[in-house]
Amino acid sequence: MTAHLSAPSLDLLAEQIAALLEEPSTSHGLARTLRAVAKEIEISKYHRTSSRAWPNGRIDIAPEKVQIGGGAHRIDGFYNIDAVPPADLLWDIREGIPLQDGSVQFMFSEHFLEHIDYPNSAKHYAREAHRVLVPGGQLVTGVPDAAFVLRHYPDNPTLADEMVERWYAKRDCLGDINTFLDLINYVFRDQDDAPTYTPHLWAYDREKLTQMFTEAGFRAIEPWDFDPTIANPKRQWGSTYVIATK
Ligand SMILES: C[S@@+](CC[C@H](N)C(=O)[O-])C[C@H]1O[C@@H](n2cnc3c(N)ncnc32)[C@H](O)[C@@H]1O
Repeated sequence: MTAHLSAPSLDLLAEQIAALLEEPSTSHGLARTLRAVAKEIEISKYHRTSSRAWPNGRIDIAPEKVQIGGGAHRIDGFYNIDAVPPADLLWDIREGIPLQDGSVQFMFSEHFLEHIDYPNSAKHYAREAHRVLVPGGQLVTGVPDAAFVLRHYPDNPTLADEMVERWYAKRDCLGDINTFLDLINYVFRDQDDAPTYTPHLWAYDREKLTQMFTEAGFRAIEPWDFDPTIANPKRQWGSTYVIATK
């Protein structure tokens, strides 16, 4: 007989995982995996609540400017969609963008794309962004620049300290991230055992972004001039941004 995972059983699973994570006998490796499951359950619960409100996967307002995966970085005048609070709408973007066709003028995301899996979710996201934009609408995407770290390897070891200081200062990890290869691991994997951080699942450079957004149907992809009134200033250094026009 196949067990059907209903919402109450997900709640129960979340409780059981929380209890196991409190247990001193839970091994490090198991705890790491359980935290990842707990995170997906959390995202799934938020997504389920929102998709109950919008069962056809489209909300009934049509914001002109949208930020995806902004986290705590809210932008004035933008409608913020993220998997977890704080956001105007909690939605798992791997399930699609819950906006009407041809309704958005401008979309923005930074340090989001590398957190969803490639190729399925990333390419789905690119196609969905193309779908929801008006003709001539624009999508700005910023990611950690894999080409930047590779270009400087192995000649500029202090760059690792600088990047960790700029991007990960709150993480108190300089004691462990202290060679250039550690920095490359961060950009490509971001999978140390800090419990609250989510991994990078794919690395991008400008060429990769250009190829992916071209494939999704965008007609022009250009470098984007960093605008600190929109973007998170701490992301400028070491990131690459492109603007794709539908
Ligand atoms: C590293 S944070 C970047 C936050 C902000 N853009 C910045 O640069 O400071 C990645 C953000 O993407 C969001 N995110 C990750 N996976 C997501 C998904 N499947 N759907 C929606 N948002 C997601 C996370 O919740 C988080 O807010």
